[in-house]
Amino acid sequence: MKVYIHTWGCQMNVLDSEVIRGEFAAQGVDAAAAVEDADIIVFNTCSVREHAENKVLSRLGALKELKARRPDVTVVIAGCMAQRLGGELLRRYPQLDLVVGTRRIGEFVDLVREARAAGRAVHVEEDRESYPRRDSRFRASRAQAFVSVMRGCDNFCAYCIVPFVRGRQASRPADEVIDEVKALSDDGVVEVTLLGQNATAYGRDRGETGALARLLEGVSGVAGIEWIRFVTSHPRDTGDDVFRAMRELPKLCPYMHLPAQSGSDRILKAMGRGYTRREYLDRIGRLHKIAGDVSVAGDFIVGFPGETEDDFEDSAGLIRAVGYKNSFIFKYSPREGTAAARLSDDVPLAEKKRRNNALLAVQEEVSLAHNSGFVGRRVEVLVEGASKKGGKLSGRTAGDEIVIFQGPPGIEGRFIEVEITGASAVNLFGRLAG
Ligand code: SAH
Ligand code: SF4
Ligand code: F3S
Repeated sequence: MKVYIHTWGCQMNVLDSEVIRGEFAAQGVDAAAAVEDADIIVFNTCSVREHAENKVLSRLGALKELKARRPDVTVVIAGCMAQRLGGELLRRYPQLDLVVGTRRIGEFVDLVREARAAGRAVHVEEDRESYPRRDSRFRASRAQAFVSVMRGCDNFCAYCIVPFVRGRQASRPADEVIDEVKALSDDGVVEVTLLGQNATAYGRDRGETGALARLLEGVSGVAGIEWIRFVTSHPRDTGDDVFRAMRELPKLCPYMHLPAQSGSDRILKAMGRGYTRREYLDRIGRLHKIAGDVSVAGDFIVGFPGETEDDFEDSAGLIRAVGYKNSFIFKYSPREGTAAARLSDDVPLAEKKRRNNALLAVQEEVSLAHNSGFVGRRVEVLVEGASKKGGKLSGRTAGDEIVIFQGPPGIEGRFIEVEITGASAVNLFGRLAG
């Protein structure tokens, strides 16, 4: 038996797919490289924007013919679309056998076995189990791994489907997280990224405060782990304790993903983000005052209902004021059931596209300025592998800047020193130092 898994969406989904892959492997089911070679096909899906869902549906449409030819193949939709649409997917797509929601990951193989024996099924209820223990062998890279610190999100930002498809926030106990990090370290991992939709609210569902900073300290104590990151941070929940951890824990990377979503107070209020532009900038000021040079990445949404040209200009201004390393910029997409879906989606698509491109252009300038600051410096780089083109190597700095350089084969997963000789908006370029 072989399983083909394709993943859309965020790092949580990437990690869930690794967990699923591990569960199959434990049952002797290997990975298939293509749908044609698979007995089980799993699409792990994302609902965050309509476009993300459309990509999945077109891929699913293409399986109709394969399923007609090979009815014994089991086709599974997992992840956020599964959770959002449930039985509707089975009704609309006869080629589909099984729908598994985001909180049933720990029973995945059993549910597939059941469906193969007993027929089509939907499983989107919440499970009673804790987060499934992963098989530490299955991860994207030898040296790097994601570790889940929580599931779900309680924020209900007006535009966002995530709390609906991932459920209420549920933090994992710190000892469980640390045990998993230890197992990963024993298996050769040197960099861990702690994952949560709102990592800065870690522990709040158990009535704790300051829990993320304590967890980071605990993870820092794991021998063999050299670099620690965490994503994502919510500006309202990010306090001085986290900034102090960044100053005091040498393993904690000087990097934060701290999405603003907008630079306009009016829009921030409508989004329900819980901070003003001033408060956001104050937070960034505290970060640099306490922790020094920290690379900051952002997210922005353009074309939220009611966004005027002035509001949009406020976002552009915020990108310049913060000096983000990079930003992810998205066109607003109404999601059924969210608070913003009741507002009129009144920014025309062409205007959303224009604002998207304009904001990207501003961010490109800012990124180039950020990266140019590295030219002439020596930086420590964790080597990740071959670069996309040009037969060079690619790696990352502690601040998450991507570095392209010439180097010998076989140094993936090692820390090296690189002298930076050039920069673009996307990359740093350099040569091995010493
Ligand atoms: N929990 C993370 C990320 C959530 S989803 C956080 O709060 O930062 C990733 C990004 O997708 C969000 O930061 C937001 O910028 C974007 N996004 C979410 N819902 C969206 C929607 N309906 N339309 C467009 N972009 C959206
Ligand atoms: Fe969505 Fe807001 Fe939660 Fe992020 S914090 S996942 S944007 S609801
Ligand atoms: Fe998408 Fe679900 Fe992540 S909606 S962004 S895969 S939590």
